[in-house]
Amino acid sequence: MDVTLTTTDIAVPDFERVCLVRETRLGYEAVFAIHDTTLGPAVGGTRVREYGAVEEAVADALRLARGMTYKNALAGLPFGGGKTVILGPAPTEPALRHAFFGAHGAAIARFEGRFITGEDVGTTPADMESVAAATDHVGGRESGMGDPSPYTALGVLYALEAAAHDSWGHPSLEGRTVALQGVGAVGLHLARLLRDRGAHVVVADVADARLAAAHRIEGVRAVAPDRIFDAAADVFAPCALGGVLDRSTVERLPARIVCGAANNQLAEPGLDARLRQRGIRYVPDYVANAGGVISGAVDLAGWDRARMEEALRRISSTVRDVFALADVTETGTQSAADRLAEQRLGGGADPRGADRAQCPV
Ligand code: NAI
Repeated sequence: MDVTLTTTDIAVPDFERVCLVRETRLGYEAVFAIHDTTLGPAVGGTRVREYGAVEEAVADALRLARGMTYKNALAGLPFGGGKTVILGPAPTEPALRHAFFGAHGAAIARFEGRFITGEDVGTTPADMESVAAATDHVGGRESGMGDPSPYTALGVLYALEAAAHDSWGHPSLEGRTVALQGVGAVGLHLARLLRDRGAHVVVADVADARLAAAHRIEGVRAVAPDRIFDAAADVFAPCALGGVLDRSTVERLPARIVCGAANNQLAEPGLDARLRQRGIRYVPDYVANAGGVISGAVDLAGWDRARMEEALRRISSTVRDVFALADVTETGTQSAADRLAEQRLGGGADPRGADRAQCPV
């Protein structure tokens, strides 16, 4: 089907390009946020969510796009940061859904490689195949690396071992207890990796089917979702939702390390400093959960598996760098990670270069 896209630009300071793209016949409406392409094309997933208003979708896209810039920079990837959020719901009927994500692909094609997407919350590898019908600038396809969750889990494990080394003098997790919130795609892989390393794993999930899958891993025990923050554990690993660390839950944690996959774990700025005051090592979420986007480099940047594995392992040294900077500057680790990412961005090409103004959509 021919698609007719209309584009409305939104001026946002510090962003290279923000626009709203619509295909009215398909009910398609998406916000594209290209934050920074200093290090390479902006890479960020496609999220589908039901937003109360367009402004809410724009705010989400901006926050997520900036986060991708920082995540990609610290992961050593040749990518900038961007994000697209589609105002859901997306159609569920297969032919309509295929056309819908085809329109999304046509919108992405207009960025001529300046923005590359992949799956995210609310989208699947099959949706990315539909996107690929209209553009090459898409990863996370069924025919490529597919589900990034195993790599995300492995990256969290490396981050956790680095934090363990920092806290206890050696990276071994044997005999340590990890309180794991959320045993979905990432959490379940992580639970297995932790068990393989001799850790005790306590899990919580709101979905019975997920808990049943976790129970099949030997030795895993479960607590009620609201008790996971208080579970006697050395490590708290948030792998469910964002915003779980707020002023109240931060005070409840007995753990000495927080390290998990969930995006935007801190409900408000400054909580990283409070965690530091409490003697808890917090591995910033976008440092710990970079494994997924690192796996994307195989499809998007032509990396081979050895290079991907090396980048996954480098998450450990990034954790050490972040902790060292936080100690020297006596700041929270989230602030330290942001600063480190900004330093890396400063070392790239001129981010305000001429072609920035020529973004084609
Ligand atoms: P998922 O949706 O497969 O799993 C999330 C799990 O959390 C589900 O089992 C859900 O039932 C559970 N959950 C929801 N609310 C809960 C609560 N209040 N208490 C306990 N459990 C709860 O998602 P996935 O892919 O495993 O991702 C987990 C987190 O990691 C998300 O925040 C995601 O944005 C982030 N992330 C995931 C990546 C990936 O490769 N899948 C990459 C980077 C970040």
